[in-house]
Amino acid sequence: MTPNLDTKPFLDVLAGTRRTVPPLWMMRQAGRYLPEYREVRAKAGGFLNMCFTPELAAEVTLQPIRRFEFDAAIIFSDILVIPYALGRNVAFEAGEGPRLDPLDTPEGIAELKQDADFRQLEPVFEALRRVRAALAPEIALIGFCGAPWTVATYMVAGHGTPDQAPARLLAYRHPQTFAKIIDTLVENSVRYLIGQLDAGADALQIFDTWAGVLPVREFQRWSIEPTRRIVEGVRKQRPGAKIIGFPRGAGALLPAYVAATGVDAVSIDWAAEPELIRRDVQSKVAVQGNLDPLALIAGGSALDAAIDEVLANYASGRLIFNLGHGIQPETPIAHVEQMVKRVRAFGG
Ligand code: CP3
Repeated sequence: MTPNLDTKPFLDVLAGTRRTVPPLWMMRQAGRYLPEYREVRAKAGGFLNMCFTPELAAEVTLQPIRRFEFDAAIIFSDILVIPYALGRNVAFEAGEGPRLDPLDTPEGIAELKQDADFRQLEPVFEALRRVRAALAPEIALIGFCGAPWTVATYMVAGHGTPDQAPARLLAYRHPQTFAKIIDTLVENSVRYLIGQLDAGADALQIFDTWAGVLPVREFQRWSIEPTRRIVEGVRKQRPGAKIIGFPRGAGALLPAYVAATGVDAVSIDWAAEPELIRRDVQSKVAVQGNLDPLALIAGGSALDAAIDEVLANYASGRLIFNLGHGIQPETPIAHVEQMVKRVRAFGG
């Protein structure tokens, strides 16, 4: 039987087909801009509890799909569940972001567990199974993990930082020691991603939110190389796995990232340079992005213009329409509706 190429827009684009109307979803689409999310969150008794209760995680994963009929759902979880399963203390304080016990000495790092306790991550797999069963077949389900560099920045500092200075310093002072954290994250991320595929994820995204602070050599060593090993490790066991990379802020290093990592698509931020992306990136892989989340807050004609610019820049090739980073909590729902309507009306 010939597969019907009209049925799965998101996966078609990842597999190599351009869609006239680009498939559409938003990073952080399950989140605080939705009143129905805030309602579940208020009752959940903590963010991690929500991630680890399959019924709640599945529910908030599906909320944005019901409202906006996006082409993909992303499983509700967090990149910091891996440090958690590695036995690190992880907490999310309301309004403050994540808090971990800092891991910034060679002695402390020598004691880091090598293997995550995957029983603790079983609820994420169960949530994936539930979501996949509830989703229409044409809507893709995305699993994810953080890239080792980005996860390490939180593990080392113990919290978010403006410039990831603690991890950068540790990597300069004790590169072998820092490499141990990265290696541990590579191995466990491979297992975690394979577990997500087996639980029903149709594609995977690797979030390297803080890739852009690294100088070229460090970018090669701490962003590209670990991501390449994860892609290779997953594909060794699941050869057809579809993987999207998001090295935020990589700029002119995006072509090198794509060539070395072997990802099927890259998510690009709003500062990406269109000509470079079209010529050296979109000619090889699909591109996902890159509406400025602040244009989505602004709305009106500024939003229309920003949407049209993304489409003009990238819709002539393989495009998955998305934001350049996560949607912000203060975004009006009406603006998301405006975006969905305008992208779906595109006829180019
Ligand atoms: O995209 C989705 O809807 C799926 C869920 C998802 C969350 N975090 C839920 C979340 C995903 C894909 C992530 C990834 C993530 N988590 C990243 C990489 C992507 C990015 O946005 O840069 C990073 C760096 C983290 C770590 C993290 N988790 C931070 C820094 C914070 C605090 C900042 C914030 O937005 O509050 C979180 C908490 C978090 N993760 C929330 C959500 C919905 C907010 C928690 C709440 O509801 O109180």
